[in-house]
Amino acid sequence: MIISDNINKIIEKKIGADINLLGVKNVESAILNGIKKSKAKSIEEYGILLQIDNNIYNSFVEEIIIPKTWFFRNKDSYIYLKNEIIGKWKTEENRVLRVLSIPCSTGEEPYSIASTLFEAGLNKSNFTIDAMDISNNAISFANCGIYPKNHTQIEDVSFINQYIFENGENIYVDDQLKSQISFINANLLDINSLNKKKYDIIFCRNVFIYFTKKAREKVILNLKNLLIKGGLIFTGHAELNIFLNSGFIKTGTKNSFVCSVGKKKKKELKKKKKRELKINIKKAIISKEQINIEKEPTVLTYQMIKSLADIGEYQKAMLLCETYIEEMKPDAEIFYIKGLIHQLQNSMDNAQVNFEKAIYLKPDYYDALLQMSFLMEKKGKLKSAVLFKNRAKRSYKLTGE
Ligand SMILES: C[S@@+](CC[C@H](N)C(=O)[O-])C[C@H]1O[C@@H](n2cnc3c(N)ncnc32)[C@H](O)[C@@H]1O
Repeated sequence: MIISDNINKIIEKKIGADINLLGVKNVESAILNGIKKSKAKSIEEYGILLQIDNNIYNSFVEEIIIPKTWFFRNKDSYIYLKNEIIGKWKTEENRVLRVLSIPCSTGEEPYSIASTLFEAGLNKSNFTIDAMDISNNAISFANCGIYPKNHTQIEDVSFINQYIFENGENIYVDDQLKSQISFINANLLDINSLNKKKYDIIFCRNVFIYFTKKAREKVILNLKNLLIKGGLIFTGHAELNIFLNSGFIKTGTKNSFVCSVGKKKKKELKKKKKRELKINIKKAIISKEQINIEKEPTVLTYQMIKSLADIGEYQKAMLLCETYIEEMKPDAEIFYIKGLIHQLQNSMDNAQVNFEKAIYLKPDYYDALLQMSFLMEKKGKLKSAVLFKNRAKRSYKLTGE
């Protein structure tokens, strides 16, 4: 069965998901079930019903979502959370820590968070958790706090405690945890209009892996607005990079997959650039030692400097040129390359000086003569431009270069 454009658009626009990431077979089977239940006569009619009948739409959503979750999923996130709370939040006694878990699916994630916060020493008046999901069924299930063992699992049994415990065939959640959490049916795409409160910590894990690029961008913006400055976002292991590519800064331990908007973003970026520059210069200085060994620049050296300039590493390329000039007998090619680098940086006077030096060292240097001719033309010195062009022509005839 081919999924109609109309239904594809509904999934992308209203849920944010990409059918290929959800699994085409999964979506097709949801459509077939939906057609059966709604008694629609065709896929087109079903597409229309999805737009006008909330019950039909909601039951379609329940069919296509992937609610897989478990207690303490990626335990390193919870270990990091606990340490962060002990090290930082516990000292802010008058503050109420606000946490958002979205999507929370059937509740294992927010219950794991609540248990971790109690374990870290917070008491019931120190924190609140909002837990949201697009699935009504998942939210109702989460509210009960009883999990048949064959429905869920605990990532690591050492996390079992007085708040989350096994008994017979079930895993139970203590009432103390339940009273810390508000379960809300909500769509990540609309979260900004639903909720104006800011959060200290957001768990948004294992949903972007199903989203279109457009939906990811929209949700990331929403989440940024919902997070206090310096607040933390816990992501899924395959999702951290999406956040890092959108202005978030990695924090936390290697496998905790945490990032933050970061107060000192600009400063940190500046520092990072400075660090990179230092490393580049260091590398160039190492090359200086290599130059001493080589005694004179080789074709490979010229190519290396040119390649550096090509990728915009002007400073590094220039540093290598200077090093050669300092260490060895003047070399026309190096002055020529220096001229080109200045030209790339729109520094025409410096370019001219270096082309002139190259020509002085090698009077029939075709490329340098030609560049001088272009430069003169640019500067409006047309007579000079013609003279250099003619010299270049003569050198071409003479040397065949
Ligand atoms: C794989 S579960 C992840 C649950 C939990 N965060 C975890 O990592 O274990 C994905 C959940 O995303 C929810 N979901 C999908 N699209 C959503 C949307 N647009 N808004 C809110 N929840 C959504 C689904 O209902 C499902 O429960």
